Amino acid sequence: MSAEKSAAVVSQNQGNIAIVLMQNPPVNALSKAVRVGLISEIKAALLDPSIEAIVISSQQALFSGGADISEFSGNDFEPPLPEVLDLIENASKPIVAVLNGPAFGGGLEVALACHYRVTFSANKVGLPEVNLGILPGAGGTQRLPRLAGVETALSMIVSGKPVAASSVKGVFDVLVEDPQELLDKAMAFVQKLIVNGEKIRRTKDLNIDPASAPAELFAQYRQGIAKQARGFFSPERCIQAVEAAVELPLEEGLQRESELFMECMRSPQARAQQHFFFAERAAGHVADFDKATPVREIKKVGIIGAGTMGGGIAMNFANAGIPVVLLELKQEALDKGLAVIRGNYENSAKKGKLSPQDVEERMALLVGATDYQELADVDLVIEAVFEKMEVKKQVFSKLDEVCKAGAILASNTSTLDLNEIAACTSRPQDVIGLHFFSPANVMKLLEVVKGEKTSADVIKTCMQMAKKIRKVAVLVGVCFGFVGNRMIEPYGRESNRLLLEGASPEHVDKIIYDFGMPMGPFTMGDMAGLDIGYFVRQSRHEFISQDPSYCVVANRLVEDGRVGLKVGKGVYLYEPGNRKPIPDPKVLEVAKQEAQKLDIEQREHSEQEILERCIFPLINEGARILEEGIAAKSSDIDVIYVYGYGFPVYRGGPMQYADEIGLDKIYDAMCKYRDELGDYGKMWFEPAPLLKKLAEQGKRFVDYKN
Ligand code: 3HC
Ligand code: NAI
Repeated sequence: MSAEKSAAVVSQNQGNIAIVLMQNPPVNALSKAVRVGLISEIKAALLDPSIEAIVISSQQALFSGGADISEFSGNDFEPPLPEVLDLIENASKPIVAVLNGPAFGGGLEVALACHYRVTFSANKVGLPEVNLGILPGAGGTQRLPRLAGVETALSMIVSGKPVAASSVKGVFDVLVEDPQELLDKAMAFVQKLIVNGEKIRRTKDLNIDPASAPAELFAQYRQGIAKQARGFFSPERCIQAVEAAVELPLEEGLQRESELFMECMRSPQARAQQHFFFAERAAGHVADFDKATPVREIKKVGIIGAGTMGGGIAMNFANAGIPVVLLELKQEALDKGLAVIRGNYENSAKKGKLSPQDVEERMALLVGATDYQELADVDLVIEAVFEKMEVKKQVFSKLDEVCKAGAILASNTSTLDLNEIAACTSRPQDVIGLHFFSPANVMKLLEVVKGEKTSADVIKTCMQMAKKIRKVAVLVGVCFGFVGNRMIEPYGRESNRLLLEGASPEHVDKIIYDFGMPMGPFTMGDMAGLDIGYFVRQSRHEFISQDPSYCVVANRLVEDGRVGLKVGKGVYLYEPGNRKPIPDPKVLEVAKQEAQKLDIEQREHSEQEILERCIFPLINEGARILEEGIAAKSSDIDVIYVYGYGFPVYRGGPMQYADEIGLDKIYDAMCKYRDELGDYGKMWFEPAPLLKKLAEQGKRFVDYKN
């Protein structure tokens, strides 16, 4: 065996077969060096008379994670990936892709351009480009339907979801069961091709029978995905590219794919979704710890409070196979909490998501307790009791007494001062905030709140633990509401003020829904319960006393018993068992009366004003949070908003949205409303100093380093 090495691609010749291996850690992205390496190694093998066939595989755990996404924002695309694939497809010697690990995006497209494909059944393959706001741009939309059929191709390309290799019929020539046997079986297959003199089989020579993909199939597909694709730009372009595969020969189809790819790539959505891809990963890059920082082992968890949050949090750990002691003061509350959890699991089982055995296994991991001594050996305890400082302090004093040295003591508080809670223990370095979002077993976001004295290893342990329970963790600092809820405050306040100024709830909600949020602020308020915000306001007199108009309509509704969906009336009315909001003219009447009392003139608002007044103050608060160091980077705020509040990922999060439209525009609009809205404007629309500074410098939030 001879070996020639280049940096990112190596060739190892085994007799008459050249094995071309990609090696570009961590994910074998098809960076420039890989593309150059592939071209040179393949050309060399084609010229070598001793070589009769070529294998393309990888020296990493992955076959390839696809194109190098970090290159998309640059301008050096040479040699383009399609050029590499042209060389492969038109090669005069058989080229076989041996997928030793997952192949995504461009990685799978390399394999589709090869003449034969070999892998193991359970291997994962996919075309996830749609998640980056683009479409497969190296022939995936043309070659996959030719090999796997239009329906499979549509589903893989438009959903972007990875699938098992064995489920994609027509793509793989050999599927081995045992990955350990892959190489041997693949080499035997290649030798057989050579010995049998099999002719080169090019995907481009296949044509799709138009009868297999009638127009109705595409129409139905479009209808089927309409809800989840709402607002997204690239899914429709993915479908159009697959339509082209049916209608056009490969060369023309590739041309069409390339046009659609560029259309997507130039869109703000592609920038936003690619920003978000890196933002999500960057959330785990935290300056507070490094590789040398030790991690504490979390083998057993305690949870205090089996209410709405405690129950959901407990489920996360049970789902990850980690035993939990769930503590309530009274047996009755404990039984109720455990029954709710069982009910949730049984519902999942009814939907086929869990087997009855899974339900029992998970329930067996949840042990109820009413005695704090049961927490003596837990490694992590998460408190989720009533949101009252004196109750939290009692709980933490008790935990300090009973928990073993080195146990992490966490609070799920959403508003209280974590430093004050930590101070009532003898070990503030072990105290941290773990702010889950409701429903805690569903929502992916976890704000990890670092107190003044929280130690680095506690932070690192919690950030890693989050991954185990399938949460996306973002590290934040202590302030009222942390990042997410602090920024939602101006959004809620402003939507309420618009109501007072004469805008209807359904008009405001529609504009916000059309912007891409899952629902508008009034529908959201009704769902969460208007009483929640009301109680928070009770504890914040100082903050709101300067503004006599602050949420007065919402206050009136709560005081009239209209606390939202749970009682069938809030800002909207609801029919029993139906969550569809029905506008209620009485609410407009309440708004009118309150406006008169406060001498606020009611008027019509443009869509632009409604959108800007709801979203821009939220961004402005984000700027303050960033400047105060409560969030370490703007992309962390984006992750919080997409995963915690359903901010449309195709806008990349509020800070990316602001960067995209330009901070000068946000700054100018804030100044405009500050000056036009009288005392109210002066109170709430003062631009954050950081917004002003970056806007004047022509910079973006993403450029800001604290
Ligand atoms: N390009 C550049 N960097 C990439 C990358 C890619 N395609 N895929 C992953 N990375 C980076 C990540 O940013 C991360 O960097 P960091 O350590 O500095 O944060 C590192 O590689 C490891 O990534 P993960 O933490 O995500 O590693 P996992 O092992 O959890 O997951 C993976 C591996 C499943 C491959 C996942 O990284 C992934 O989904 N990657 C993106 C796949 C994708 O979207 N491919 C399509 C690319 S676009 C394309 O191919 C266009 C073509 O059609 C022309
Ligand atoms: P909840 O009222 O549903 O549950 C609280 C539970 O704690 C009750 O079952 C109660 O019996 C129990 N409890 C009270 N005092 C206790 C004590 N001393 N020892 C043991 N158990 C005790 O409240 P919820 O909504 O679950 O909130 C809990 C915490 O989570 C609060 O701090 C809240 O701010 C926070 N939070 C709530 C969110 C939500 O949407 N509900 C979202 C994020 C955080």
